[in-house]
Amino acid sequence: MSQPTHVYPVLWYDDHVRLIDQTRLPNEFDYVEIRLAEDLAMAIETMIVRGAPAIGVAAAYGVYLGAKAIQTSDRSQFLAQLEPVAARLRKTRPTAVNLFWAIDRMLKVAHQTLGSVDYLKQVLLVTAQAINADDIRTCEQIGDHGVTVLPSSPAKLRLLTHCNAGALATAGYGTALGVVRSAWREGRLERVYADETRPRLQGAKLTAWECVQEGIPVTVITDNMAAHCMQRGLIDMVVVGADRIAANGDTANKIGTYSVALAAKAHGIPFYVAAPLSTIDFAIADGSQIPIEERDPSEIYQVGETLLCPKGAEFYNPAFDVTPASLITAIITEHGAIAPQELQPRLQPLALV
Ligand code: MRU
Repeated sequence: MSQPTHVYPVLWYDDHVRLIDQTRLPNEFDYVEIRLAEDLAMAIETMIVRGAPAIGVAAAYGVYLGAKAIQTSDRSQFLAQLEPVAARLRKTRPTAVNLFWAIDRMLKVAHQTLGSVDYLKQVLLVTAQAINADDIRTCEQIGDHGVTVLPSSPAKLRLLTHCNAGALATAGYGTALGVVRSAWREGRLERVYADETRPRLQGAKLTAWECVQEGIPVTVITDNMAAHCMQRGLIDMVVVGADRIAANGDTANKIGTYSVALAAKAHGIPFYVAAPLSTIDFAIADGSQIPIEERDPSEIYQVGETLLCPKGAEFYNPAFDVTPASLITAIITEHGAIAPQELQPRLQPLALV
C-alpha cells in the first residue's frame, strides 16, 4: 500500500472506522477496519490507535458504533443501553483525559437531542465527525501558536521531542509535532531530535517515521542521551505533548518526559507542552491526582521472541509520568501559549462552554 505524507490515523470511511495500525509502523503501513464498539475498545487497548487526542476521536466513533448496534426504537431504553458501551470504552486506558472528554461529549449530545432513536444515531455520527475535524484544526492552530514562541536565535532551531505527539497521535498534524511542522514550514527548523521512548519506542518508530515521510531532518537518540545532547549545546528547545494536564499545569505525558524537563531546566533550555484544551482536566487540582497507567512488564523484558532480562527479575512499567508545572515554560494550546499558572483563569471559562 502506498504511504501518504500527511496521515490521518482515525477516519470514518463509508460505514466504518478506519485506523492506521500503529503497532506495525514503521515497517508496514496498513489499515484496520472497525465496525464494532468492542473492536474499537480493543484497538485502543492494544495501541493500534494511541496518543491522547487520537484516542478521544476513536472513542467518539466507538460510542457511535455501539449506538448503531442498539436495536430499540424506545429512547430511554436506547440511552440506557448506551451506558455499558461508554463504560467499556472508558476502561481502555486511564491516563489520557481526551478519552473521557470525548465519551462525555457524545453522551451529553445523546441525552440532549430530541427526536427518534434513528435521528439520535445520526446526530451521534455527526458529533464524532465534528470531534475528528475539530482536532485537525486545533492541531494546526497549536502549530501556528508554537511558531510565535520559538527562540529568536539561532535562526534554525534544533527541537527535542519525546514519544510521538504527531499526526499519528491526533486526528492529524499533531501537537508537539504540529509545532515542529509549522516551524519547518516557516524555515525555522534545522532538525528534530527524537527520543526513542522506551519501552514502546513511539519516538523511534512513529515520530521518526512521520519526519522521514515529510523530509524533516530527524535524529533519533536513546532516552538516556537527551541530557548529554543538551550539555553539548545540540538542543535549543523541547516540545512534548500531554495526556492530561491538571488545573495547576502539572502535566502527565509519556514516561521519561519528567527527566527531559529536569535536564532542560538544568541547562536553561525552554520546555514547552503542546496540547489542546480537551487535554486539560480542570477537575484535578494537581498532578498527584492523575491516574497513571501501568502496562504489562513484557514491554520491558521482551522484544519479539527475545528475552532481554533474566527470569526472576521483577518489573515496574508505568506508561506516563508527571512533569511539575514549575519545569514548564508554557503550554501551547489552540488559544495561544499560556503559562501554567494562567491556565485556570484564562482557559477554564472556555472549557465550560
Ligand atoms: O502511550 P501513548 O503512545 O498513547 O502515549 C502518547 C503520549 O504520551 C503522547 O505524548 C500524548 O498522548 C500526546 S499526543 C498528541
